[in-house]
Amino acid sequence: MSAYAKLDSPLTEFVARQYDDFQFLLEDLNKERKYLNYGFRRSSQDSYETKQANLCMLVFEAADIKPDSVLVDVGFGSGEQDFLLASKFKFKELIGFNIAESQVRYANERAKTEKLQKKLKFKHGQAEKMEMPAKSADRVMAVECAFYFDRPRFYKEAARVLKKNGLLVLADITFHDSLAFLTRRAPDLARVSHRSANQASWEEYFETVKIQSINREARPGAQETVSMILKWLFRHFKRSQYSAWKTLWNMAVSTQITALGFATGLIHYDLIVLRKR
Ligand SMILES: C[S@@+](CC[C@H](N)C(=O)[O-])C[C@H]1O[C@@H](n2cnc3c(N)ncnc32)[C@H](O)[C@@H]1O
Repeated sequence: MSAYAKLDSPLTEFVARQYDDFQFLLEDLNKERKYLNYGFRRSSQDSYETKQANLCMLVFEAADIKPDSVLVDVGFGSGEQDFLLASKFKFKELIGFNIAESQVRYANERAKTEKLQKKLKFKHGQAEKMEMPAKSADRVMAVECAFYFDRPRFYKEAARVLKKNGLLVLADITFHDSLAFLTRRAPDLARVSHRSANQASWEEYFETVKIQSINREARPGAQETVSMILKWLFRHFKRSQYSAWKTLWNMAVSTQITALGFATGLIHYDLIVLRKR
């Protein structure tokens, strides 16, 4: 059975195929650190990859990780962030869930090579349906990915796997409430959701500890992402990789719109910390 057959919806399958294409490109292009996020600028000297690592660190620091913590990372990309996490924090174990099979394979192979396979376990699976017992995790983290999830199901599932008072920490993108009409136009925009609907949805299970806007710090990386993608596209076009090429072109367009949204405040990028009730 194909790995895609396990997924709940055609939209989730589409996203999984897209990230399988990205993983192929990241490996083909030998990108040194395989983050896939817009990053967080701390200083004007920060390189692109430093900004990307900063964003992950922002989430990890907000998660208040303890040496005995059981961590869950949903939408972990190629796992780059979890190797960073393992080098900077003490914790018991981390279980990752990702719908892109090639990213799961890459992360598990790397964990084996770095002898971290007992600590970092990467599974093929959806954030909305984690194969984990109830009340078994201390933290659930989601770096730049929850806008792909069926959010109401995800919040319910995160609340199920978290212990009482456990934290859900996200670096998350949503529409400003004035763009709520967009979320009724298409299923992918509905998943992005708008801020007040999103908050109402998580507050069924979580108390809001913090919402911190990071639009300003994320915007330079988003803009850089567009120009990097365009440069890659023009340098590396190969007819045999047309599907990956098209995926990247679409990503450049949506990232340019997102960067404009950050600049105008019509799209929010927030660091969000939630405590399970
Ligand atoms: C923008 S990338 C972010 C990757 C990584 N967190 C980073 O910052 O480098 C989004 C990731 O979310 C994953 N993803 C999307 N929908 C998902 C879902 N429903 N469940 C689990 N992972 C999902 C994608 O496969 C991809 O790895």
